Amino acid sequence: MTILNINEKEYSLDLKGHETLLEVLRDTLGLTGTKTACNEAECGACTVLVDDKSVLACITLAKNVEGCKILTIEGLSRGEELHPIQQAFLDNGAVQCGFCAPGFILSTKSLLNRNPKPNLDEIKKSLDGHICRCGGYLKIFDAVKDASQKLNNHDNKE
Ligand code: FES
Ligand code: FES
Repeated sequence: MTILNINEKEYSLDLKGHETLLEVLRDTLGLTGTKTACNEAECGACTVLVDDKSVLACITLAKNVEGCKILTIEGLSRGEELHPIQQAFLDNGAVQCGFCAPGFILSTKSLLNRNPKPNLDEIKKSLDGHICRCGGYLKIFDAVKDASQKLNNHDNKE
């Protein structure tokens, strides 16, 4: 048995060993918020966080992340309440078809954990591996700046 900790919940899985994390999330567990697109490490759509770092689930073997904390887009909101990064993406019109959004949002979380006030160059560099097929990059960068402000305000109130 392989035990994976996903969104603070433990799943016991009977894996053969060759399954990617993306296959396990979507096909085995039904966590379809993580998207499949290129399936070859080119687009960032399948990004999840593993121990707070952005990881491409399409090229990660599920068995290799046993013992790590895996966060998918489903684990970000608290019930009906969106995470401030999700809210910032909505507020800034950064979601068009939405296909790229889970990956961008999780990489933004990883960035803001490391660097709470990134400048535009740092944002661009950090999101470099992500493709938005709708071409909404400017609004996505605005959303990341807004998310940074929202999170800093939130922290200052606590
Ligand atoms: S689906 Fe994994 S990088 Fe494109
Ligand atoms: S919003 Fe459509 S791919 Fe980015």
